[in-house]
Amino acid sequence: MAKILVTGGTGYIGSHTVLELDKAGYEVIIVDNLSNSNIKILTQLHAISGKWFEFVQMDLQDEHAVQQFAEENRDITGIIHFAASKAVGESVEKPLKYYKNNFYSLINLLVSFNNRMDFVFSSSCTVYGQPDHLPVTESAPVKKAESPYGNTKQIAEEILSETTAVNADLRVIALRYFNPVGAHETALIGELPNGVPANLIPFITQSAIGKRGPITVYGNDYETPDGSAIRDYIHVVDLAKAHVKALKRLEEKKADRNYEVFNIGTGKGTSVLEIIAAFEEVTGEKLDYKIGPRRAGDVMQVYGDVQKSNEELAWKAELDIKEMMRSAWEWEKYIKINPF
Ligand code: NAD
Ligand code: WQD
Repeated sequence: MAKILVTGGTGYIGSHTVLELDKAGYEVIIVDNLSNSNIKILTQLHAISGKWFEFVQMDLQDEHAVQQFAEENRDITGIIHFAASKAVGESVEKPLKYYKNNFYSLINLLVSFNNRMDFVFSSSCTVYGQPDHLPVTESAPVKKAESPYGNTKQIAEEILSETTAVNADLRVIALRYFNPVGAHETALIGELPNGVPANLIPFITQSAIGKRGPITVYGNDYETPDGSAIRDYIHVVDLAKAHVKALKRLEEKKADRNYEVFNIGTGKGTSVLEIIAAFEEVTGEKLDYKIGPRRAGDVMQVYGDVQKSNEELAWKAELDIKEMMRSAWEWEKYIKINPF
């Protein structure tokens, strides 16, 4: 049984991926510093899977700790690297926090494991900015980043591409996620935003449950069919499964080069107003929303061309917007009754 290190494994996408790795027969070891997640996730993962996953509380910025961890865990064959700071707005306020955390963590892992590894990296559709052509393919040009956070993803991709070019034993797949949303079907794990959510779906669920006031739709004057902005929302469980496929591709050495990039989305665009309508339809809850100005830094529309991941990763998104909204709502109700 191959042993896989999941960094950031108690976080939102990491926790869902731990379950998919377990289902696929992998042994999992989680490293997280709990800076943006809760130790109780381990109990939740146990409730779902019946397993207590090995957990090491460690800050990946700590070079010596990572070095020692790598020496003690020579049997790890693959790393899925989720651990990073991810709030776009905060990254503008505190750029060095983002550059330090996202780069130190990545570099410490690569150096400590001596560039011998199957490595799956969490990248983002943010690298495309507003693409010239839609759906956007992996070969579209990377646009100047709108935020230090986005810049960390672009530069991390470069670090990985350049490092693999001179290390035949390092094989990397960077997954460019579109907009991950939703929660596990058990409603025992989901997204746990810190403070007021900046992202649309957690704001919607928190507004519906009475934790927040009305939703502001950031702009209804875009050149889109209903005037609101369009994104490619992807269910977090589908996204988690893509990581297992990526790992398998690396293990089977199917790629002709040792650095590859894949879009992970549904390939379909959905507007903010369509999201609101879908949430209301699926949950029966009426949302209170108002139209506000556009949000600085937002693109008008982006959705991914997923042909490459469908064909080469043998992965396809299966869950639709309704299931994304239903599961996000079930999770919001669960966490209200069972706060961490
Ligand atoms: P998350 O914050 O829920 O999970 C990240 C986890 O990493 C957290 O548990 C946090 O405690 C941990 N962590 C952060 N810095 C660490 C460090 N130095 N050492 C150890 N642990 C550390 O975020 P998420 O939404 O699950 O995102 C996972 C990855 O996917 C991130 O790299 C993020 O940038 C990327 N991503 C997320 C989205 C999104 O919208 N959620 C979209 C595209 C890409
Ligand atoms: C979605 C749509 C908003 C909140 C961000 C990061 C990106 C990636 C995913 C990590 C937009 C609109 C939102 C609200 C609204 N993360 N909206 N009212 O901005 O597409 O992407 O998360 O890599 O890098 O930038 O996601 O959920 O914030 O917004 O109208 O209260 O909802 O304008 O059109 P975004 P989001």
